[in-house]
Amino acid sequence: MIRVHDVWKKYGSLQVLKGLSLDINDGETLVILGRSGVGKSVLLRQIIGLENPDKGYVEVDGIKIADIQKKARGEQVVKPMGMLFQGSALFDSMDVGENVAFYLNQHEPELTPKEVDERVEHALTMVGLEGTQRKMPSELSGGMRKRAALARLIVYRPQILLYDEPTTGLDPTTAMQINELINKTKQELKSTSVVVTHDIRSAMEVGDRLAFHYEGKIAQIAPKDQFWKIDDPNIQEFFQNGLIDHDTLNNLRKKEGA
Ligand SMILES: Nc1ncnc2c1ncn2[C@@H]1O[C@H](COP(=O)(O)OP(=O)(O)OP(=O)(O)O)[C@@H](O)[C@H]1O
Ligand SMILES: [Mg+2]
Repeated sequence: MIRVHDVWKKYGSLQVLKGLSLDINDGETLVILGRSGVGKSVLLRQIIGLENPDKGYVEVDGIKIADIQKKARGEQVVKPMGMLFQGSALFDSMDVGENVAFYLNQHEPELTPKEVDERVEHALTMVGLEGTQRKMPSELSGGMRKRAALARLIVYRPQILLYDEPTTGLDPTTAMQINELINKTKQELKSTSVVVTHDIRSAMEVGDRLAFHYEGKIAQIAPKDQFWKIDDPNIQEFFQNGLIDHDTLNNLRKKEGA
């Protein structure tokens, strides 16, 4: 279980997180929605321990992330954790195979080169990129880069996966492939996932629960089938700001019996 408790974070005079609390259950996929700039990526960075909160804490299975030595984070004391960054963040100077092997080698240094190759091949096959080991990131499309970044993550079998805008900027077909991969990964690794997105369709495809990040806190959280029934003008405004059209929203509500 991941517990985010009363987390405050500010940059200069900009108070981004204002006492944000959130519990994430083992094995669930929690989707975090919220407008651009509200602090969704900042929240993920506190969860994975790239930054520490000014006040409050993040705990995984009762262990405070900020107390763990930086180099051990995500490896020893807590469950292996991994993040799919908003811009994929592949290493441009390494080919796809080297990219996918990079964190695997760090997490499991005891593996032989042959075992690494096999794991890399399996991960690339899982994301539909088999045989691309010798390609450079610059030769890949945006959707392929996202999938390669996902392979780099799932290859070391993290039990906690954080996805920052996994479908943003992708065409609908590619976005749907990524949604399916998120679900497939969850089944294969039995992992706990946090998905930050603007994409309501993606939220519907992958989420067990949906949370609404507003004004530095989680303003609403509910199981997917109940989220649409929440009567909150800020959520309505979020939906109306062109992120989803009314017909789609009405169809979702009908489908969910809201
Ligand atoms: N390292 C930093 N230094 C200064 N300001 C920062 C830093 N990181 C984030 N911010 C600011 O904090 C706010 C929240 O940023 P964040 O990237 O979390 O937004 P977001 O909700 O992920 O937005 P988007 O949906 O556009 O990705 C923004 O105003 C951003 O400029
Ligand atoms: Mg962001």
